[in-house]
Amino acid sequence: MVHPIIDDLLWRHATKKYDASKKVPQQDLDVLFEAMRLSASSINSQPWKFVVIESDESKARMQKTFIHKHQYNQSHVFASSHIILFAYNPHYTREDYAQVVDKGIKDGRTKPEDRENAFAAFKFAEFNTDEAGNTSCWTKAQTYLALGNTLHVLARLRIDSTPLEGIDIDLVNDEFKAELDGYQCDVALAIGYHHPTEDYNAELPKSRLSLERILVRL
Ligand SMILES: Cc1cc2nc3c(=O)[nH]c(=O)nc-3n(C[C@H](O)[C@H](O)[C@H](O)COP(=O)(O)O)c2cc1C
Repeated sequence: MVHPIIDDLLWRHATKKYDASKKVPQQDLDVLFEAMRLSASSINSQPWKFVVIESDESKARMQKTFIHKHQYNQSHVFASSHIILFAYNPHYTREDYAQVVDKGIKDGRTKPEDRENAFAAFKFAEFNTDEAGNTSCWTKAQTYLALGNTLHVLARLRIDSTPLEGIDIDLVNDEFKAELDGYQCDVALAIGYHHPTEDYNAELPKSRLSLERILVRL
């Protein structure tokens, strides 16, 4: 199939080794961050925070979190250009949604007199909140939507990436506790440019289940 979208998706792969000499230019980062901000989420809740690890000092902090496990991902910390922590709000509240509603008013999407009515959608968050006020299942799902959007945008920009569930969640959340500010990171993303000879995944053919196996048309 020939289509620019399919080209993007065939181009991208989970990079296994980065070229440490190449960094993502600021103008591409600007597009990327704006695209992340524009990600869709249920009731426009945007229950995420993206912590971008860029300086050598921050990378050294990330490096430390691989001391116990997932060392196969460790080389990405310094060889990739940036590591982005995708974090979700585990206790999304009406006060959090108020920020969305008020931004909607500021952006001209909601009339100021409709402010109270705009909270009707918050019911959806309540359906997804347990007795202890935990919203993790729902807010984490939203954050993975942002991750998916980011993967495609990176492909469009011809920037390589590796989603990283292989991180030590306890150590990452502990090390970046201040920056995460109550949000929980269960997945990170390395971005940069793959090593010209040592990224074995760059040469492998794309493999996915057949459309017949995964798609049902009624
Ligand atoms: C949520 C998520 C977590 C992943 N975690 C890792 C990881 O920790 N390390 C790694 O090398 N690849 C990781 N991957 C890459 C997948 O294994 C890869 O996307 C999948 O095998 C499909 O291959 P492709 O992306 O090269 O097309 C992850 C992918 C996703 C979507």
